[in-house]
Amino acid sequence: MIDPKQYTYKVSAAGRVNIIGEHIDYCGGKVMPAALSLANTVYIRPNGTDRINLSWTTLPDSVTFEIGKLGEYKHLAYGKYQAGSAYLWQRAGHKIVGCDMVQDCKVPFGSGLSSSAAIEVSTIAALATVAGESFDKVEVALTAQAAEREYAGVNCGIMDQYASACGKKGMAMLLDCKTLECSYLPLELGGYSMVITDCKKPHNLVESRYNERRAETEEALKILQGVLPNITCLADVSQEQFTTYRNLLPEVIQRRALHVVNECARVRQAEEALRAGDILKLGKILNESHESLKTLYETTGFEPDVLAEAAQSHPACIGSRLTGGGFGGCTISLVESARVDEFESYLLEQYHKKTGYTAVCYKTEISDGITVEKL
Ligand code: GLA
Repeated sequence: MIDPKQYTYKVSAAGRVNIIGEHIDYCGGKVMPAALSLANTVYIRPNGTDRINLSWTTLPDSVTFEIGKLGEYKHLAYGKYQAGSAYLWQRAGHKIVGCDMVQDCKVPFGSGLSSSAAIEVSTIAALATVAGESFDKVEVALTAQAAEREYAGVNCGIMDQYASACGKKGMAMLLDCKTLECSYLPLELGGYSMVITDCKKPHNLVESRYNERRAETEEALKILQGVLPNITCLADVSQEQFTTYRNLLPEVIQRRALHVVNECARVRQAEEALRAGDILKLGKILNESHESLKTLYETTGFEPDVLAEAAQSHPACIGSRLTGGGFGGCTISLVESARVDEFESYLLEQYHKKTGYTAVCYKTEISDGITVEKL
């Protein structure tokens, strides 16, 4: 049990759900994530030493980092994300002071809801706060992304860390990953609710398969730049241009790029649908996105497909898709609010029958990104 009175600040950063716009952040696309109330919370106090002492509510261990040697903790099983985040913040020229922190992570690990982004972002925000610095949330997000790349070996885009830092309560974000401009749109779903369900299938090789997809899109970009010299990223390619030039791409690369181009268009359609309050249309777009991730981008897998398809088969559900990096993790489903309980029991039962795994539906809300509280 944490005694908050023993600490100076409580700093949180959110997990995130991605509503639409999958695997296009690193292609310069516009994405529509939202921050969740499932968050990583850091209780922190200065300790007047040149050390950072880190412990967790969920683990018996604790670790100590020397402030002068923050680059040397990459090998740790637990604590490397925190050390990496501290190191990259320090390398960017910020002050790190000795402190004690205990972390309480409520974002389920391996769920595709960005527990690592929540840990990185909250660690940096907490370290800046305890050092008496104010911080720019976007700079925190970019530094956290760099930590993810260097310390987790995932060549990720900016979506997760940005959403974790800059999300707003009740709002969907419209983040342009090329310019980092972000606007917010109330996530008003009429008589529908968003249900988030974890397929709970342990997955492996996620990092290498993710990096492989990213390399494939880079290959597509390089080839298309040969005929479209003005494009700087795959998201710049229109559907018409893609139809004209797609045959220049090898077959697999063509399917990956087709997903990206269409998914960018789906984000635009989803924005229109949400602005118009056309939630049925939004549901249809979610289904199309899942199908594209399954057949073109190939980042779903047996269990996620069973989960999304079982959701789609329930009459109260108007759309469902796998959210996040893929190869496991969570689906989001839009479901008639009055029938959520019935939907969840049906979904969990169908899924268990077909896969043998027990899925979990999370209770969570759309919340703020970073929050800082003086204790
Ligand atoms: C992971 C990455 C993000 C993004 C998604 C897929 O969550 O961290 O940058 O690429 O996958 O949309």
